[in-house]
Amino acid sequence: MPRRRRTPGAITCWTSGSTSITSSNINYRLGYEPLLPGVYLTTYPNVYRDFGGDEHRAAQLSLKHLQDLTATTIPATSVAAIVIEPVQGEGGYIPAPASFLQGLRAFCDQYGILLVADEVQAGFGRTGRMWSFEHAGIVPDVVCLAKAIANGLPLSAVVTRRELQERWGKGAHGTTYGGNPVACAAGIAVLETIEREHLVANAAERGAELMEGLRSIMGLLGLTDQHSFKSLNEACATALARGAWRLRDVKGLLGQRQHEVQTHLSFAQTHPLIRNLAEYGLFIETKIP
Ligand SMILES: Cc1ncc(COP(=O)(O)O)c(C=O)c1O
Repeated sequence: MPRRRRTPGAITCWTSGSTSITSSNINYRLGYEPLLPGVYLTTYPNVYRDFGGDEHRAAQLSLKHLQDLTATTIPATSVAAIVIEPVQGEGGYIPAPASFLQGLRAFCDQYGILLVADEVQAGFGRTGRMWSFEHAGIVPDVVCLAKAIANGLPLSAVVTRRELQERWGKGAHGTTYGGNPVACAAGIAVLETIEREHLVANAAERGAELMEGLRSIMGLLGLTDQHSFKSLNEACATALARGAWRLRDVKGLLGQRQHEVQTHLSFAQTHPLIRNLAEYGLFIETKIP
C-alpha cells in the first residue's frame, strides 16, 4: 500500500483522498471519517510560532520528527510520497525554512520517495518567485497547481517529469473537464500576462516594501528581536480583526499573552470587519473556525 506523509496545518481539500492529507481545519474532517489509511502527519517547521524565530532549530527538529516517525511508525522505504506546501497557506501562511526543504529533498532522494509540492495557493508568483519552492533552490518530483493558473476559470495541473508521467500509462488518469479549451486558453493568457507585466518581480518588490513597513512599525514600537516580530504579527491580526488599526491597540495587545491574543480572533469580531471592507470593494474571507 502506498503511504503518504503530510504536514499538520496543510490544506489539500475536499475529496476523501485530499482530506486525508489536510489538517488546516478540523471542520474539513468533521463527520467525514474514515479517511484513507497509510497517511502520516509530521511536524511543519512553524518558525515564529513554535520555534521563537529560530529557523535552524525549526528545520532540525522538524526533520528529526520525520526521522523518528520513519524509525518507529512507518519505514521510509514504504513511503511513496511526501506532500508539502513549501509555504503553508491556510495553516497560517508559514514559509518553511530553506534548510528544511533541502533536508526533505535529501531525505526523499535517500529513500526513493517522491517529493510533491503543493503550489496551489503559493504558486504563480505570490511569494516573489514563480514557485515558492524556488526560494529553497530545490526541485520537487511533482508540483500541484490550481487557483491562479487560469485566473478563476476551473483548471488545475499536476506537473512532473515525462519519465514519471509515462509510468502512469496512456489514459490511466483523466477527468471530464481536464484540458477544457476555454480554461486552457485562460491559463495561457495568465502566463503571458505574468510575463509581460513582470508580476513576479512586482510581487518580490511589494513584499520587500511590506516587510520594510512592518519593520519600521517594529522600530516605532521599540521591538527588535524575532520574538517581537511574532508578537507584532499576532497583534496586528488582532487589531485588524477588531476593525481598529491604531498604534494604541497594537501596543496594548503586545502586552498580552499569546492565548489571550488568539481569543480575540473570533468570527464575531472579524465579521463586521469583513462587512465594512466589502463596502470599499475589498472582499476577504476568514478561515477562523
Ligand atoms: C494549498 C492548497 N492546496 C489545494 C487546495 C484545493 O484546491 P482545489 O479547490 O482547486 O481543489 C487548496 C484550496 O484552498 C489549497 O489552498
